[in-house]
Amino acid sequence: MNLYKYVSEKLNEKLGFDAKLETPRNREFGDFSTNAAMVMARGAGKNPRELANEILPKINELDFVESASVAGPGFINLKIKDEFLWHAVQSADEITQTANPLVIDMDYGAYNVAKSLHIGHLRTSIVGDMLYRLGRSLGHKMISYNHMGDWGRSMGFVIAWIEKLHPDWPFFQADFDSDADYSKYTFDPDELDTYYPAAAALAKTDNEFLEHAQIITAKLQQGHAGYNALYNIFMPISLASMNKTVRLLNIIPFDNDLGERNAAKYTAPVEKIIREKNLLVKSDGAEVIVVKRDTDNKPMPPVMFYNSRGAVPYDATDIMALYYRKITDNPDKVIYLTDKRQSLHFEQLFRVAELLQMFPADALEHIGYGTINGADGKPFKTRDGNAAGLNDIIEMVGAAARERVTESGKKLDDATIDMIALAALKFNDLSHDLRADYIFDPAQITSFEGRTGPYILYTAVRLNSVLRRAGEFVQSANAVKMNTDERNLVMELLDFDRTIQAAFESRATDLVANYAYDLCQLVNTFYHNCPILREDVPADIRAMRINLVQIAAHVLTHTIDLMGLKVPNEM
Ligand code: ARG
Repeated sequence: MNLYKYVSEKLNEKLGFDAKLETPRNREFGDFSTNAAMVMARGAGKNPRELANEILPKINELDFVESASVAGPGFINLKIKDEFLWHAVQSADEITQTANPLVIDMDYGAYNVAKSLHIGHLRTSIVGDMLYRLGRSLGHKMISYNHMGDWGRSMGFVIAWIEKLHPDWPFFQADFDSDADYSKYTFDPDELDTYYPAAAALAKTDNEFLEHAQIITAKLQQGHAGYNALYNIFMPISLASMNKTVRLLNIIPFDNDLGERNAAKYTAPVEKIIREKNLLVKSDGAEVIVVKRDTDNKPMPPVMFYNSRGAVPYDATDIMALYYRKITDNPDKVIYLTDKRQSLHFEQLFRVAELLQMFPADALEHIGYGTINGADGKPFKTRDGNAAGLNDIIEMVGAAARERVTESGKKLDDATIDMIALAALKFNDLSHDLRADYIFDPAQITSFEGRTGPYILYTAVRLNSVLRRAGEFVQSANAVKMNTDERNLVMELLDFDRTIQAAFESRATDLVANYAYDLCQLVNTFYHNCPILREDVPADIRAMRINLVQIAAHVLTHTIDLMGLKVPNEM
């Protein structure tokens, strides 16, 4: 239940006025407060305090209001009846379903074939997965795309490098036989990931090699049998490594692993639409779409559709990818998640989609996230000075988590330590404002105290352990007069639904992560101050507290699920 929304709607109905409800941090004077009287008074030329006093009796008529009072220049504070709260909190973990379910395509992850995942892929994966889970929990039809970099210039580099290593392999011979069995040709996944960087480095100094690689890319795209057979060998190996990372990060498998290669198949129909609209312009041997507008006050370069070699570059494949999604999912919305450095690319793309009347501008959304930095404020690097690979990061956090566990003197198995490390990594990422950069510090994020993933897990484990020890299930215990700790916890639980709605609406994962943290703090305060299973606790109070622990466990587990963390049995 979304308590905030409920109270706000009932209040507005009663007053016939759209008031803004505030939730004061300090609940001493009320659970909610509104400036309705002040705004209404301004309109009517009345004294706000007087008007507030006039409408108080009306507000007191609302059956969930315990008391209402006037404060300061004309604020009205409301206190909600305990009985009402207690009844409402029983279904606190239910998420109100959207009245307007949408088909939403989400483009995140977007890994590159034969290039190992790096730190830049962390946020797109973790945040994309959470937004997917949030949207689904609200009742939208979410469709995820791992829009792989699987068809561009790097493919030519990889193939050129393999040719350099094995010039005698059949894929490079003029008499290549498409029907023969090539199953003995295979690659070690880690070795495969070294080919692109090696080739790219060589191409910097060796122009002949560079041109050869570019020709290979073009020929691959045009259907060269040997190159395609080779591609069909290493592509699945690379996809398997991607999926291994996806599992390691506990990300819901992508609905579609369809990237640039799939998009490229739709070049002809898209080109036709563009030509019909007369939008393709020749420019220095290339063909481009002009997206500049008179109102622009920053550079807005054209989008290249064909480059001077006749190949379709990355920018253009995204037009085809949109076309593909239009004719398959026909989504109401497409959301992309990449590093903010790709913002211009998406701005251009969205303009093309509008020009082609494929999608209106407000159906397309790009979320550009900040970079993950080291202590020096520069993009995080490993000790040897290279951009950190995703697997390095996962290992580093794993080692830090292990150290923390050893420090604490706890004996935990490997599976539990993995869950702690995963929570540390993901929670940290989710708790930051998506658009901002942040500093990555493995020691800090694995701490068991403070705003960290391990602290969240620890609290969940504690709740589950109380329930196990209680050994009984208490369904809607009678409402007893709540003390402050119990009441604060109830109010926070009743903020779950509102938080989820707000987080999805504003694409703000930090709202959920910080909600989890606030909830855990209130849970732990309650746990310290309110004995549950101690013998001297009266039966009705015990029942109520067990009931409260159950609800808190449900809401916290639900929150943890939405963040894609896993809760161990003990910690
Ligand atoms: N593969 C690209 C990269 O690693 C990201 C692709 C993002 N998605 C898209 N539809 N362009 O940078």
